[in-house]
This record gives sequence, structure tokens and C-alpha cells, in this order.
Amino acid sequence: MKVVTVVAPVNIAVIKYWGKRDEELILPINDSISGTLSTDHMCAKTTIQASPLFQENRFWLNGKPQDFDNPRLNNCLKEVKRRAKPSCPILNWKLSICSENNFPTAAGLASSAAGYACLVSALAQLYEIDGDISSIARRGSGSACRSVYGGWVQWVKGESPTGEDSLAVQLAPASHWPEMRVIILVVSNETKKYSSTSGMKTSVETSQLLPYRAKEIVPKQVERMKRAIADKDFEAFARITMEDSNSFHAMCLDTFPPCVYMNDISHAIVDVVHTYNQLKSSNKVSYTFDAGPNACLYLLESEVEEFLSVINYVFPPRSGSIQDEYIKGSKVKQLPIQE
Ligand code: DP6
Repeated sequence: MKVVTVVAPVNIAVIKYWGKRDEELILPINDSISGTLSTDHMCAKTTIQASPLFQENRFWLNGKPQDFDNPRLNNCLKEVKRRAKPSCPILNWKLSICSENNFPTAAGLASSAAGYACLVSALAQLYEIDGDISSIARRGSGSACRSVYGGWVQWVKGESPTGEDSLAVQLAPASHWPEMRVIILVVSNETKKYSSTSGMKTSVETSQLLPYRAKEIVPKQVERMKRAIADKDFEAFARITMEDSNSFHAMCLDTFPPCVYMNDISHAIVDVVHTYNQLKSSNKVSYTFDAGPNACLYLLESEVEEFLSVINYVFPPRSGSIQDEYIKGSKVKQLPIQE
């Protein structure tokens, strides 16, 4: 028997991926950029056992048995096996895959990104493959390709119709900007109404804003964001992050029927951030929302204490609330960026 266990982090996009040009290969219509969080708090953990004695392949997610015939899982497995050496002794052994997330799954907190990055890293170790694995993780979930690297990561959309140039590249390690922090405000841990996969498909089919965002807005914002990260210019970084989140959710609302991910509490958080920044006469905190109501706030370490006191004042935690349960003691998560 051979056993591998891997832990992989969540990433939070500051320039969002939304829309595929190829559904099967998971090729995006635009580049995206994210920060990869430390694995201390939010991560996926996958253990894979391979044995010649197993009769069938099995897969559990958060303790529940899953169908192994999942096409995305099989695409990743097929690609890893294709890259394994023909002499690899375990190529025909059956697998037992056990994955878990230590945070709400499918609640718009990048669970599939961490999950597939973890699965593919574990498979790569198991079958001893070398080289870039982000293009394999991409086949599991697009955003997963960015979780393969730490620090600041760009998913380059690529031009090839077969996808070999659609992969993640590290723009800078976390040590480049060690003062950066992320606070996650868990507004709801319920599963989102429409998955990212189906939401973005409907957006590609119906949103009139989507082609403009992909061709005109995002390429310019990607260049500005790369400069902001390289220069550690937080003011610019924060502005671009918030602009992109707003542009992304505008496109979601422009989808027909609309994908409504943010709720009243999300919008209240946006107001608090803007009021805070206005009082400080500068962008000290930035928000970004994925396909769910939960807020991801990027800010520098020097701002954390003061901003948290504002959040605790405006949103006093209720006993038994998600924050109490989920974050065990500290009401919100304050996370560094992962190397
Ligand atoms: C809003 O990577 O979950 O989080 O490729 O269909 O699995 P699939 O979608 P997924 O979409 C993530 C969308 C997002 C933005 C982002 O992370 O860039």
C-alpha cells in the first residue's frame, strides 16, 4: 500500500475569473490574480491510499461517500496518470481518496480551489510526476490552479485551444509583502444558491457586460494590479481589488436570470469599508466577494486592530453565531499570506 497526505490552502482572487471559453478543458476568458492564504486556518486536507488489494476506487468528502465517476476528478486522475512514468508500479492500483475542508464547503469560500489543488498535489506525489501541476488542478476547478502556488499568483488564460499555456504563475512570494493580512467575515456558511460553474456558464450565455469586462476591463486591471503588488502600493491594490469585486458582481447581476451572491449584510460591510476609508482619507481596507455573501478583506497588519474594533462595534457577535462556532474564540479570521 502507498499513502500520501497533503494540505492545500485557499486563495482569494483580487481579479476574478468568471467565464470559460472551453467548458471541458476549463479554459478561462480572462486572466485572474489571487493571494494564497496560509494553511494555518483555512485549508483542504487529502489522504490518498493506493493498494493492489482494493477492489474499487472510493472517494469521501468531509466524511460522506461521493461518486467516484465525477468527471472533473477523473480528468485530473487521467492527466496525472498520463504524465506518470510507464514504469510507475501503482498505475493500475485502485485508490481510496479522503478529502476534508476545515471551513464551510461550497459557501463561496474557495473550497473547490483548495480541494482540487490538494487532490492534484496528492496524486502528483503518489504517481511521482514532476513539473507544473497547475494545469492539471485547473481541470478540477479553474481557480484551483492558483492554489498550487503560494504568495501572489496569476492564472494566465493562455491562447492555445488545447490549454497547455493556461496555467498559474507566481508573481511574488508572500515574503514580498509580509504585512498583508486577510480577514474573512463569515456572513453565511450555507451552500450557495447557484454554483460558480453554473453561474458563470449562464453569464457567458447571457451577460452583455461579460465580453466587455473580459476584453476591455480585466486586461488593464491585471496590469495595474501586477504593478501595485510589485510596488507594494496598498492604496492602488485596495482600489483595484474593490473595483474588480464590484465589476464582477455587476456582471453577475447582468446575467439572466441574475446571480445574486451578495446579501444585505455584504452590502453593509461594503459601506463600513468605504466609510472607514473616507475617515482615513485613504484606502486602508479593501473588500472582495466571491460567489457568496462572505466578505474577504485585505488590509495591512498595522490596520487590523483598529478595523476589527469597528467591525465588532458595527456587527456585534451573537452568541452561538457562525463566528463563535466556526472561528473558536476570535470572531473573525486574520490570516497571513502563504509562502
Ligand atoms: C468567483 O473555480 O469554482 O471564486 O472552474 O467552474 O470550478 P469552476 O469555477 P471556480 O470559480 C471561482 C470563481 C470565483 C472567482 C475566482 O476565484 O477567481
